Amino acid sequence: LRCLAQTFATGEVSGRSLIDIGSGPTIYQLLSACAHFEDITMTDFLEANRQELELWLREEPGAFNWSAYSQHACLIEGKGESWQEKERQLRARVKRVLPVDVHLPQPLGAGSRAPLPADALISAFCLEAVSPDLASFQRALGHITMLLKPGGHLLLIGGLEESWYLAGEARLVVVPVCEEEVREALVQSGYEVRDLRTYIMPDHLRTGVDDVKGVFFAWAQKKVGAGV
Ligand SMILES: C[S@@+](CC[C@H](N)C(=O)[O-])C[C@H]1O[C@@H](n2cnc3c(N)ncnc32)[C@H](O)[C@@H]1O
Ligand SMILES: *[C@@H]1O[C@H](CO)[C@@H](O)[C@H](O)[C@H]1NC(C)=O
Repeated sequence: LRCLAQTFATGEVSGRSLIDIGSGPTIYQLLSACAHFEDITMTDFLEANRQELELWLREEPGAFNWSAYSQHACLIEGKGESWQEKERQLRARVKRVLPVDVHLPQPLGAGSRAPLPADALISAFCLEAVSPDLASFQRALGHITMLLKPGGHLLLIGGLEESWYLAGEARLVVVPVCEEEVREALVQSGYEVRDLRTYIMPDHLRTGVDDVKGVFFAWAQKKVGAGV
């Protein structure tokens, strides 16, 4: 959250449309972004995750309560905004929740309702979690990059050196990536890497739900001339 807040505080990442790739059932990744984009598209592969997002967006009974995260985002942004105002803005700006498959050359399908190309992309813990190997990770990054306008920004967050995680009963396979592989993949896809930070997972966060060793945060800008 701090990486996202700091990046948006530069004022360099803004525009009209933003797409979050592989949102899952979570909204934390958009808490700082939503002040800077008025048209936000959330996406996930699974219908169950898209339904969970709709519960929160429509403030329906049983929706997960994200207020602790909203409060924390307001705190680190330090703009004096209340968490209720932040959540209201995010709900108003998420215009649609769509299916996505990063393994397809057109991840949103043909004729999607999202405005394309987008001014910016966010993706958190998705590409490495759904790719069996590095080549697949690289291809998936290439596919989502086609959704981004030249000069647009990508904020990519993910696990480092992770090989599995538990989703309920299921043990899912993750491609272990290191910082240099992430950097190389971004350069290969036509990005200028503006910032790439890595964090080592502290022991108290090693809870047995995965074998992740750390987390990366990348801010990358698609080069003009890299194609749409
Ligand atoms: C580890 S979760 C991350 C969710 C959320 N972004 C977060 O930060 O917690 C990975 C997500 O990728 C989604 N996913 C699975 N296969 C996918 C695919 N082929 N294309 C895009 N997303 C996929 C899953 O449904 C899941 O929500
Ligand atoms: C979510 O939690 C906050 C803080 O505990 C509380 O004020 C708020 O009413 C809760 N929201 C819902 C919909 O229950």
